[in-house]
Parts: sequence; structure tokens; C-alpha cells
Amino acid sequence: MPGSLAAFPAIIELPDHPTTRPPDYPTMMTTDRQRYEELKREIRYHNYRYYVLASPVISDAEYDRLMAELRRLEEAHPDWVTPDSPTQRAGAPPAEGFEKVRHPAPILSLANAFSREDLDAWLERIARLDARVREAAFVVEPKLDGLTVVLHYRDGVFVQGATRGDGVVGEDITTNLRTIRALPLRIPAAPDGPPPPPYVVVRGEALMLKADFQALNRRLEAAGEKTFANPRNAAAGSLRQLDPRVTASRPLTLQCYAIVAAEGEAPATEHGTLERLRAWGFPVVESHRCPDLDCVWRVYEDFAARREDLPYEIDGVVVKIDDLALQASLGVVGKDPRGAIAIKFPAQVVSTKLLDIRVNVGRTGVLTPYAVLEPVEIGGVVVERATLHNFDFIREKDIRIGDRVWVKRAGDVIPYIIGPVVEARSGEERPYEPPAVCPSCGEPVVHPEGEVAYYCVNAACPAQRVRNIEHFVSRGAMDIEGLGEKIVLQLAEAGLVEDAADLYYLKKEDLLPLEGFAEKKAENLLRAIEASKTRPLARLITALGIRGVGEVVAQLLAAHYPDLDALSRATVEELQQLEGIGPVVAENIVAWFRAPHNRQMLEKLRQAGVWPRQEDDTAPAEAAQPFAGKTFVITGTLSRPRNEVKAFIQAHGGKVTNSVSRKTDYLVVGENPGSKLAKAQALGVLTLSEEELYALAERA
Ligand code: IVH
Repeated sequence: MPGSLAAFPAIIELPDHPTTRPPDYPTMMTTDRQRYEELKREIRYHNYRYYVLASPVISDAEYDRLMAELRRLEEAHPDWVTPDSPTQRAGAPPAEGFEKVRHPAPILSLANAFSREDLDAWLERIARLDARVREAAFVVEPKLDGLTVVLHYRDGVFVQGATRGDGVVGEDITTNLRTIRALPLRIPAAPDGPPPPPYVVVRGEALMLKADFQALNRRLEAAGEKTFANPRNAAAGSLRQLDPRVTASRPLTLQCYAIVAAEGEAPATEHGTLERLRAWGFPVVESHRCPDLDCVWRVYEDFAARREDLPYEIDGVVVKIDDLALQASLGVVGKDPRGAIAIKFPAQVVSTKLLDIRVNVGRTGVLTPYAVLEPVEIGGVVVERATLHNFDFIREKDIRIGDRVWVKRAGDVIPYIIGPVVEARSGEERPYEPPAVCPSCGEPVVHPEGEVAYYCVNAACPAQRVRNIEHFVSRGAMDIEGLGEKIVLQLAEAGLVEDAADLYYLKKEDLLPLEGFAEKKAENLLRAIEASKTRPLARLITALGIRGVGEVVAQLLAAHYPDLDALSRATVEELQQLEGIGPVVAENIVAWFRAPHNRQMLEKLRQAGVWPRQEDDTAPAEAAQPFAGKTFVITGTLSRPRNEVKAFIQAHGGKVTNSVSRKTDYLVVGENPGSKLAKAQALGVLTLSEEELYALAERA
């Protein structure tokens, strides 16, 4: 276990290895009431380590144990429960509407600059009002693309939280905000933090990390629910929920940057404010102190360069005069303070012509519309295609072919259409109707009542087949190197493969006539296909592409069924017994194995020798393996192909998943790591170099 608990001012001494602490510790010496207070302190400290410092010192399981103990005590003594108890984050029953809250001081907005000239002009303007600004220092922070929240603390306890509203009156979203783990319910949340004044109001930004946003959308999509267009909308939609239990299920986080009001003494500078907030245990924005605008501009450019790699979305930086009295003395223009300004990144929203709406057929037959655009540059990238989300979206926004449309590209997100420029219509635009037949196979489209999705249910649909083969050969599945989308399409169009099993019957003579296939390329491809025959059972199960069966469920199934024969005989009831498999997925699995064309494909796989068995994958004494029970994620380029490293981890009893979460034990970091590294750091997941990974296998 990393770190130490030394800094935690517990009354009780914690053992060095907290994992070994007996669950009933230490009831013999303390009263229930004392234990209750200790537990609250202890859990508050661990929340702070985890969500604010991103450096936990206990395991999830231990944390859960502490929470369970706290809940037990609260059940026995309901009158003890206070609003700052860590149990009070779970979310209350739905509300009728939001109450209004008057802010203690105006919640100001910011004027925008878009260039170095704008920035210089700003300084000139304010220097005419007060020449001292020429000597002033600045603080530069990222401009987070989230939602302003205003947090009230009375005697250190979080008592109320509001949205910005019109800047004077906001909406009371206290119950929803409580569910954000990064938000301290009591300050100081940090050990040895300074005592808070009797009343203080803190301003921050509630937001969703990019990776969490993507995972949320995947979850919503799998559940057939509407997805969010971007992390900001997801954060806003989650916070302005009348049902706090929904908010609690959404991965929101927080970054703070200002003290709006305080009784008693408050820091005199912006950087002092950030330091104070940090000392109280708030998550605080990254900041840079600059002596002049040259430095400010460098920081801006640095943020612009790092933008894509940051775990959250930003749309620029905020420049603030560090001396808060000077900043305030400059006054406000409308809602914008003169003493601060936002430098925005160049617009990532542009308008262009919508040439056509086309439809993509997914692996499971879901039809998804996408826009074909007159090519346009957005943030240095030429965009010709953009997502239209779903057919409801086109109807709701009344998007017509020939329309001028707003297109946005934001961070990692695929460019998407915001809506039409209605004023630009000439009258020649054509309204759009969802297709009645599948654009690939011509079979009628099915639109189940109450669902957003339209489906092609023809199992023999060529587009679905190609998507299925693409999935079969993809990285997380059979990982056949050199077999990308283009070649899959080529093979399908040449009539060489109808399903994935046909890949194992390809011969060199079949490939040579294909465009771009010389001797060597054909041999390499056949070798890669051959090599995939030894992939473990879990990989093959993933590769089958059963709806709801991703890598994690596949591993679960592979651990319970010795081979595909056994799995194909499983009943819905039996499958549901497995932890993590619900009725829908269980039904999907059974239905998949029942379908005649799937049975045929399985038979072809068996004949070709693609029939891994469980015992080939996992060594018998799993518990004795060094990585047993540990979950790994890999990012960046390693010295060996990623699938080999993955196999190494699996061979030592570990599990490898694709995305970093609280459940991840280790992130293996190669060269040029992706956004997973930032996510891991934010969550406090341990990182390992490739060498450290091998060493750990030896040592463990
Ligand atoms: S300071 C007087 N700092 O940007 C100071 N705002 O366009 C006013 N925002 O409504 C705001 N990150 O929601 C400040 N580091 C940051 C910020 C930030 C994001 C948002 C905030 C505000 C909007 C103004």
C-alpha cells in the first residue's frame, strides 16, 4: 500500500498495514459515539486522499468496510446523523423543482480575448483606470468547460450549493452537489488544514472528465438511452436533475477557484486564495503566477498545446490580476469584472453546408445517421463527416439536406452537428426521413416503440457482417494484426468471407488477385490469422460480438465455462447466477447460440482449430499467481506488441481491461501514453513502467 497515514490526525493509532485491521477495531476501548466520530473523520480523510490528492492510502475494499461500519452505527443511532456525514452523499428522493438562492455577492462572468492584441488592449484599458496594473502580477488558470457552482459552508459544514443562474439568483442544487465525492462536506477536509471562518462561500466548476463522459455515453447507449453531446452537457444534465439519485450515478467532479464571500479574514491575492482552498481540502484548478503578459501568453500557448491531453475539457484560460483588492477596485462592466479576462481558444464551431445525410449500419444492426459536409477546417483539422447522433435529433432540430449547419469539434469527441442555421435557408433544402429499408441489404427497418434506435434485423445483412468481422479481428478480440477495416471490406466484397470463421480458410491464391496484395503481404496476413488461433477463450467470446458481452463479461464467462460447447448449452437462469450478468445479457447470449448462422460459424471455427479451452488460458492454482485479482490497463507503446504484454499479465493471473477506473490496480505506461495516464493520476491508480511490470511478476 503506497503512502502513509502519518499525516492523519487520528486519535487512534492506525497499524502500518491497514488491510490487516480487524473489522471490529477498536470497539473495546471506545464508545460507539467516539467510534462514529472517528469513522467520519477517517472516511473524510480518505475521500480527500482519493478525490482531491488522487493518492489513496487504502484499498477500495477497506474503504467500503469503513463505510459499512459507519452505516451500521447510523442505523443503530439515526439521531446522530448530520448532513456532513459521508453517508449523506447517496442522493435523496426526487424534488418537485429547485428553490431559488440569492448569491451573497454577484457571480460574475468574464469578457473574452481571442488574440495577443486583445490581451494587450485589455491591459491598456485598465491601466488608464489605474496605472498600478502595469506592475501587477497575474494568475493564469485553465477555463474549465463545466458549470459554475456556488458552495456555502457554515462552521465548516457544507450547507448549501447553487447554480450560477442569472448571477444574482441561482437554483438550489445542494442535494445533487452532495453526491460529488470531490466536494468536501466539511472543511478542513485536509489534515492540519486551517480552521474555516464561521461562514465562507466558495466558487468552482462542476465538470465531467473526458474519459468518464465517454464511459457514461457508452453506458447510456447500451441501455438504449439518449447520450450527451459533450462533457459539459453531460455535467449540466446530471446536475440539474430533479432526482439526485441520477446525479449520484453520474461521474461528476469539481475544481474550485474563488472565495465569493467570507466572514472574517480572507486571502488578499488570487494565488493566496487557491492556496487557502487547497489547504482546506478543496480540489483546486491548476494555476500559474506571471509577472507580465509575455508570461501569460506563454502559459496560454502551453495550455493550447496540452489541451487534448488534459483529462477535462477547457475552452481557454482565465487571466486574473493577482492582487484581489486591485482587481475589485477596477469595477465591472455589465457582468464582466475589468480585473480578469478569458483568453478563448480559436472557435471550434464553424458553419458549413450539409451535403447529404447517410446511414451507417452497426454491428448489431443499429442504424446511425451521419452528415456529409462541405469540407471545413475546425481547429486545424479538415472535417467532412460529422455525427448526427440519431434520427430523433434530426427531427427535433429540423435539420434538412442542403442546410447550412453549425459543426463543433471538441477535444476527443467526434465532430458533431449542433443544428441548422435557419436564417440561411433558401427554400431549396429538403426535409429528411429516416430510411424505411436498410441501406445495405434493403430489408425493412424496425423501429421498436419507445426506443430511439432504428434497426436492421436481417442477420445476413452484408454491412452487419462486415462490422462483425471487423469486431472479431479487432484489438480487444482476436487481435489479427494487419487486418483493418479496408481489408475486411475488400475480402467481403470479393466474396471471400461471409463471416469471421471464413478467415481461417483463406489461401494465398485467394489473396494474390486482390488489389494491393503482393506475395509478402498475403503471407503476413495468413500468418497473423494463424497466430490468432491460440488466443484465449475469453478473447474468442469477446470476438463473437454478442450484444452486452464485452471483454469483462467475456472473461467472466471464460472463467465459468470450459469452452464454447459448454457456454452454448448455458441457460438464461444459469447465466444470471453469475455476478455481473443481468437478464438482458443472459438472454442475448442464449439467443446468439441458438441462431442457425451463428451455429454454422462456430462449427467452421471448430473445424479450423479455433477452439480454445479454459485450461489453456488459466493455470490451475490461480490464487498462487502473482497478479491474481489485480486489474491492469495498458497505455502507450511498449517494447513488445501490446497483446503479448496483455498475455503476459493474463498468464500471471491478472486481468487486463481497456479503461482506467477506480477498480484498476495498475496502469502500465509505455512511450507516448494517452489520456489514460492523466485519468489514472486523477484517480490515484498506481503506474508501472514495462520493466516494473516484469519485476513485479518476479517479486510478487
Ligand atoms: S473566474 C471574476 N476562473 O467561465 C471571476 N471562471 O465565462 C469570474 N470558468 O461563469 C470567473 N474556469 O463558469 C473563473 N478558472 C476559472 C474558470 C472560470 C471556468 C467559467 C465560469 C464562468 C465562465 C465565464
